Amino acid sequence: MANVFCPSLLRKWGKTGLFLWIQCLAVSVAFADPIDLTIFVDRSARPISPNLIGVFFEDLNYAADGGLYAELVQNRSFEYSPTEQPDWHPLKFWDLQKRGNGDGSVVVANMRPIHKNNPHYILLTVRTPGQGVGIANSGFGGIPLAAGERYKASFWAYQAFMGQMWGPGDNSKPMPVTLRLETRSGELLAETSMQIQGRRWTPYNATLVSPRAVSDAKLVLLAHEMGGVCLDMISLFPERTFRNRQNGLRADLAQAIADIKPKFIRFPGGCLVHGQGIHQYYDWKDSIGPVEQRRSFRNLWGYSQKVGLGYFELFQFCEDSGAIPIPVVSAGVCCQHAGSSPGRGKEGLPLEEMPAYIQDILDLIEWANGPVTSKWGSMRAAGGHPDPFELKYIGVGNEDAITPIFKERFRMIYEALKKEHPEITVIGTVGPFAAGEDYENGWAFAKALQLPMVDEHYYVNPQWFWDNLARYDSYPRKSTTVYVGEYAAHDRGRRNTLRSALAEAAGLTGLERNGDVVVFASYAPLLARRGHTQWTPDMIYFDSVNVYFTANYYVQQLFGQNGGDRCLETELAAGDSKKLAASSVVDSGSGDLIVKIVNGADTPANITIRLAGLSPDAPMKAVKTVLSGPDADAVNEDAKEPVIKPIQSTELVKSVFTYEAPANSLTVYRINR
Ligand code: AHR
Repeated sequence: MANVFCPSLLRKWGKTGLFLWIQCLAVSVAFADPIDLTIFVDRSARPISPNLIGVFFEDLNYAADGGLYAELVQNRSFEYSPTEQPDWHPLKFWDLQKRGNGDGSVVVANMRPIHKNNPHYILLTVRTPGQGVGIANSGFGGIPLAAGERYKASFWAYQAFMGQMWGPGDNSKPMPVTLRLETRSGELLAETSMQIQGRRWTPYNATLVSPRAVSDAKLVLLAHEMGGVCLDMISLFPERTFRNRQNGLRADLAQAIADIKPKFIRFPGGCLVHGQGIHQYYDWKDSIGPVEQRRSFRNLWGYSQKVGLGYFELFQFCEDSGAIPIPVVSAGVCCQHAGSSPGRGKEGLPLEEMPAYIQDILDLIEWANGPVTSKWGSMRAAGGHPDPFELKYIGVGNEDAITPIFKERFRMIYEALKKEHPEITVIGTVGPFAAGEDYENGWAFAKALQLPMVDEHYYVNPQWFWDNLARYDSYPRKSTTVYVGEYAAHDRGRRNTLRSALAEAAGLTGLERNGDVVVFASYAPLLARRGHTQWTPDMIYFDSVNVYFTANYYVQQLFGQNGGDRCLETELAAGDSKKLAASSVVDSGSGDLIVKIVNGADTPANITIRLAGLSPDAPMKAVKTVLSGPDADAVNEDAKEPVIKPIQSTELVKSVFTYEAPANSLTVYRINR
């Protein structure tokens, strides 16, 4: 009706008429023919994976050091090297301090390391003590301190032998040192003193409390007598880490991940699993045990990886956030882009090395699940976790080109795992794309081997998700299942637009509807430190004090918090709208019926929701959460005031009710029957 009148308004009132006409048009679209969404509560609900939504953690974009790992000192073990970045070296991010006429030097040494995996340390020599000679570290662009928070400072040290070569000094007396937290300009915030004595590597610990919040502090260690000390593993952690773990995780970031209610965590990669060449794969054995004995190595993404956040911490994080651990190991091949012919240059471990490599994978299972009396189980217990981690899944390979070299090695690993650990579900790989040669060959190989599950990846434009809502409808049932291990909608400019998030939400309705085939799904990448991103878009951005939640994050959170274990038959008569998607599930635990509606159009959708089979008059309490924003191009820039965020309300609904889904929105109705 409104449209009939509007052209005459336009003729009569010029610009004002045009404005009114646009308003009328919006109203007419909003009140266009209602769209029917029927949820057949009376028909039998299909069992689906209760674990659909999880996360994929990979150390890129400074996700680990300078990210999720709560360590505040950068290059604590003096292992940075030019192989990582051309201007990096063992003293990178450390500054020599000579206070109040003090004089001395610092050199890098490797003659008596704490452990062979941690070869470098420093020799700090004091010639004139003045008010102290030492070193300072500003962390990852300034150490953030919170008012009244306690920080655990620690280092390893021994007294250097001071012969003629190094100058005077008396080893019979301890070396007094101070550990200080200072502002960038050198104002003292907290200080503690200790004495270093003896010629053996010894750990020293102290607690420092910052009186006020500072975003760019530094940790300073000063020696106060003539002589020398060797130092390594100079570290500073907030006492308050996620679940207060030692060597723990940054509380706000870990909480942000836990708030998704991830049902699983896949780690440590991605491409990181292969590393840069055939012997550069991520060796889980280097990532467990005392942190001073772990071997840091060049991260595939071009920086240093200290593996302080290693397998132990990752398994513990899974446990602390109620997630199933899914470690991924290389299939005994390097990445196809790292071999001699880029693209298909897959190279494999020499076959004679495969038995040892396979044994490493078997050892991983023993480490995770074995009794404390077993060799590797005892190492897990020594790390502080006598109970098994209950590992049930292992990913073998990541986005591999399905070449004969790959197949031969994959088969060897798979057969060994099947024989020794039939209780473990092996997840294979079907290449880097949603279709194409590796996808086809990967699936054919998986079918031939009767693999229980394969890992699909797709980074695609938002429209792809809308065009492929029915992708899994035709996948065979009771066969190899799917883990969508990496996916994201890459919008123009690779920004985290609302459009991209809603495309992913629409895709997720398709996965929920096919939750009998798709068992797990994880957006990628998860984390990115602002100023250190190698890849965009990402789900959660952060700096040293803030966490920035993207629209894509909120989509994951809404699906993660509102999953179900049974899927209801759902009919959406969307008419001409090509940007409407819906799914409905039941969470048997609470009995709640959960309906998700994605409207990716720039106009509202007027929907009549029919819960077929429920009594027509009984009102039911519903929690409604709407994620929306000003328009499809909107992005969240500010941590404190994101423009796109979920808004929750409660209402009473009946078995038939109407809902106007806002333009560009995801709505979740959680109905308590
Ligand atoms: O998620 C970033 C990268 O994308 C992963 O490391 C790799 O598996 C994929 O190509």
